[in-house]
Amino acid sequence: MSHSVVHEANNCEKRPTPEEFFKRQPEPGFIKSIDEYHEMYKKSIEDPEEFWAPLAKDLISWDKPFEQVTSGDLKTGNVGWFLNGELNACYNCVDRWAFSTPDKPAIICENDDEAQSHVLTYKELLYEVCKVSQILDDWGVKKGDTVAIYMPMNSQAIIAMLAVARIGAIHSVIFAGFSSGSIKDRVNNASCKALITCDEGKRGGKTINIKKLCDDALDNCPTVEKVLVYKRTGNPEIFMKEGRDYFWDEEAKNFSGYIPPVSVNSEDPLFLLYTSGSTGTPKGVVHTTAGYLLGAAMTTKYIFDIHAQDILFTAGDVGWITGHTYALYGPLSLGVTSVVFEGTPAYPDYGRLWAIVEKHAVTHFYIAPTALRLLRKAGEDQIDKYNLSSLRTLGSVGEPISPDIWEWFNERIGKDQCHIADTYWQTESGSHFIAPIAGVIPNKPGSASLPFFGIDTCLIDPVSGKEIEGNDVEGVLAIKSTWPSMARSVWKNHTKYMDTYLNPYPGYYFTGDGAARDNDGYYWIRGRVDDVVNVSGHRLSTAEIEAVLIEFHNVSESAVVGISDDLTGQAIVAYVALKETEGVNIEDLRKTLILQVRKEIGPFAAPKSIIIVPDLPKTRSGKIMRRILRKISSYEADQLGDITTLANPQSVEGIIECFSQQFVAKK
Ligand code: WT7
Repeated sequence: MSHSVVHEANNCEKRPTPEEFFKRQPEPGFIKSIDEYHEMYKKSIEDPEEFWAPLAKDLISWDKPFEQVTSGDLKTGNVGWFLNGELNACYNCVDRWAFSTPDKPAIICENDDEAQSHVLTYKELLYEVCKVSQILDDWGVKKGDTVAIYMPMNSQAIIAMLAVARIGAIHSVIFAGFSSGSIKDRVNNASCKALITCDEGKRGGKTINIKKLCDDALDNCPTVEKVLVYKRTGNPEIFMKEGRDYFWDEEAKNFSGYIPPVSVNSEDPLFLLYTSGSTGTPKGVVHTTAGYLLGAAMTTKYIFDIHAQDILFTAGDVGWITGHTYALYGPLSLGVTSVVFEGTPAYPDYGRLWAIVEKHAVTHFYIAPTALRLLRKAGEDQIDKYNLSSLRTLGSVGEPISPDIWEWFNERIGKDQCHIADTYWQTESGSHFIAPIAGVIPNKPGSASLPFFGIDTCLIDPVSGKEIEGNDVEGVLAIKSTWPSMARSVWKNHTKYMDTYLNPYPGYYFTGDGAARDNDGYYWIRGRVDDVVNVSGHRLSTAEIEAVLIEFHNVSESAVVGISDDLTGQAIVAYVALKETEGVNIEDLRKTLILQVRKEIGPFAAPKSIIIVPDLPKTRSGKIMRRILRKISSYEADQLGDITTLANPQSVEGIIECFSQQFVAKK
């Protein structure tokens, strides 16, 4: 090959973890050198049984030991880890620490209003969790039942999740930014028996009508028998349906003491988490108990270099996988302290996150680049007011971190003294796929670096479907063998699981992302190769948004694409063709359509721009050519390539004109 495909690598030196990081470690790291990492990695791929068995015994408390490390493969899709073992995730995250370190903080909850912040020790956490488990148990919620949780990011959400896991039931957390319609779809898809929620939420000083959103959904959720309502604000006006809705504090009064955790099989589901894919309906990704828990514990410990006395602040929401794995199951399975933040980085001012870091002497801070971009733009002057010298590892998650934001994070927040971990993974992976192990893997800003143990990464040529060998190459990122925390299925739709992840390239797990591998074997994630858009770290399906737009009576067709955006990473542009244009007020129509998306999916899915066009570009078989719309939206209309194969090539010029008039006019 005459030129390098990995441009960044050409002028990019490896950057070792700064010396100061090691001085701040409470004890030596778990891996001593990059050579040891390579050795361990090799063993994890070549001999997974030998590699994982001792780790699973060490990090997890088993009620019954497992008999076999792994079974199944990526061809058949019937994956299993730690077979015939029995355990309870809540016991692993709460009880064993409540016995050994009862007074250690488990959760530090920073509420939106700082004055309401509180700490729960492991002992207190056990007490609170037991109460909720008993309420659910009393309601007849049993092992294998599904329970929906619609809660903002606060300690009650964590208590609710653990309480569900304690009785062997399956939690399905629904991000508290979702609309009633989305709650209804998710609750019904999982046939949830109960729902745990709160009266109202508090975010950025505003009150959010959480219970009302649930009520609107519950009218059409026949499986939900009981609803547990935490009084977050105590608003006396909250509607409570007799015989269905019960207040958390009042029910809890009936119970005290200990309820034993229910042992479940390693492969019993621990939770469902709905995520967007290429098609219109969200998928309930299924994570099972033992493998997931081990993946969470292992990556938290090794990638971040977490020791018992460390304080991890994952500034992500429990409604997404980051909150599940790195605010709850990772830190608590290791018995460390997790900081849970209910509010926004902007309230009461842009110094809030740094105030939290200083107040609790946070050692590990984990956040999405979209928040860093906001803080760089709006909150620069707040940083120096706070002492951030407790920090040791800074993590980035959810979208590519550009080298300039990486440098900013490193210099302004880390003061050049921290390890930066750009962690690449997904809802389906359960835990980190690719990330630089703190103190061990040197960084290249903008690259997530090397795969974690057991993650057999490769690149595939999308045309031939064959693996691309060697370095300095680019392709579709895939994984060659199963790993413990891999999603096992899509709830009630294993065919969809196979078709989305395992059938596209038989024998491989397909991530949906494109990537390059440079001469040092480092991975550079390029972004999704399917119809998934990442807006402010929220994963959205373009098809899902199109389905909402098309519901409007005057819309004949729509196509949604993602464009790059300075603040939100990607932003949504929706192209819409109308049935009738006569007498239509375009501005009103735009507002209506945006409102409809906010209402049907949630505010975070709202298009940044809606372009009304006479026609959409289509192939002869009637497929909309989103690629052309993507180019036009990125000001690359001069690089459309051959459009003569379209059924309606004449449409393109009109669309370019509509875009330049309507998009620019909106800016
Ligand atoms: C998609 C998964 C990872 C947990 C939160 C999001 C993108 C994630 C990175 C990263 C580049 C990233 C990928 C992935 N992504 N992390 N460090 N660098 N891209 O989980 O909602 O399931 O989204 O987020 O495109 O496939 P998710």
